[in-house]
Amino acid sequence: MKVLVLGGGGREHALAWRLKKSDSVSDVYVCPGNPGCASVATCVKPPITTIEGFLSVARETGADLTVVGPEGPLVDGVVDAFEANGLLVFGPSRAAAQLEGSKIFSKRFMERAGIPTARFVSTDDVGEARKVLDGFSYPVVVKADGLAAGKGVVICQDRAEAETTLEGMFTGALVGPAGAKVVIEEFLTGAEASFIGLSDGERVLPLEPSQDHKTIYANDQGPNTGGMGAYSDSRILGAAQRDFVMREVMERTIAQMKAEGMPFKGFLYAGLMMTARGPMVLEFNVRLGDPETQALLHRMDCDLGALLMEAARGRVKPELLAFREEPSVCVVLAAHGYPGKVRTGDAIEGIGEAEARGATVFHAGTKMERGRLVTSGGRVLGVTHSGETLQEAIANAYRASDEIRFDGMQVRRDIGAKGLKRW
Ligand SMILES: Nc1ncnc2c1ncn2[C@@H]1O[C@H](COP(=O)(O)OP(=O)(O)O)[C@@H](O)[C@H]1O
Ligand SMILES: [Mg+2]
Repeated sequence: MKVLVLGGGGREHALAWRLKKSDSVSDVYVCPGNPGCASVATCVKPPITTIEGFLSVARETGADLTVVGPEGPLVDGVVDAFEANGLLVFGPSRAAAQLEGSKIFSKRFMERAGIPTARFVSTDDVGEARKVLDGFSYPVVVKADGLAAGKGVVICQDRAEAETTLEGMFTGALVGPAGAKVVIEEFLTGAEASFIGLSDGERVLPLEPSQDHKTIYANDQGPNTGGMGAYSDSRILGAAQRDFVMREVMERTIAQMKAEGMPFKGFLYAGLMMTARGPMVLEFNVRLGDPETQALLHRMDCDLGALLMEAARGRVKPELLAFREEPSVCVVLAAHGYPGKVRTGDAIEGIGEAEARGATVFHAGTKMERGRLVTSGGRVLGVTHSGETLQEAIANAYRASDEIRFDGMQVRRDIGAKGLKRW
């Protein structure tokens, strides 16, 4: 079968790479893709960058299945449009995508469903927000309701910072219209983990746990980014925690969404905090994480195409899902200036050498310019490797990433170190 992947970052390169290895898949298309995707798939530029554009690419390529990478098109209703046109697609409907598109929707949903999450209040009024603060201690967490590309959450250390943040949210200075409404919530402590389930709307299968590294500098210092690296290791959650998360978060969410008339089909990502009170949900995403996907799919040991095809048809099959036990690590190489103003056009060298060391190098922000591969975005590459132990996986990933060079390259040197501390 032919599979079309929508998107053009590291996550989509990883999806295309794993789909290409699937026995059930003959051709992979990525729209719009990137130079990395082009080595395993056919990249197709959409005629227009709207849902109509994606539809026309799906028709043109004759794709039997479309897999949606990023949240934007999901929240905009790309799945509804595909289904209305009789095209098979894996991803949640616009209604179901509200779990990510609106943090207020998501928090209220968790409240209705009895899913463990931080105590919260939502508001769109600055006066009310100030009053609400009286009921919280510090630090307190302020979150923009809408999509904000990872920039919508501020941990405020004191009241003054909280008030400034609220003002920035409501005036649009911080994240534009996404901050017109906010969630104010209790600050939780513990280790974070990403847990992703694969659902057909009724049942949900667990993927392996993973962990992202959000800040630009090591030891969680500096501003947040889209993610500077991730690792996947089955021990991130113990057996009891895994059972708890499957029962109290994943299955509960899927059952409640179905009961409320908006069945969730797609990848359901729970950002978790392992608190002293047990695992609690920080947020839902309605798609795979980036760069968690790169680490996860590196460990995947099954026909992803067949798995997603069955899930899209409404019958997820546990026997089609398998992972290798070996942990994996994805180290992101970021461009000069990231996560601030990014410089582009720096020539990239050494990918072949990194691959000769056994790594898979996923492209995120690259482009071809006069026959040379150059940087074109904040996160440039995701160097991904596995190892018999997490320690080995980390060493393998860094040995490979040290082969790659471009001017201004930024690398966090502690990807996976949290895992080593964990057990
Ligand atoms: N209630 C909370 N307590 C402590 N830290 C939090 C809380 N909510 C979010 N965070 C921190 O902020 C990060 C981003 O928050 P999240 O809700 O995942 O939003 P987004 O990914 O949309 O930016 C989390 O990964 C976590 O580190
Ligand atoms: Mg998050």
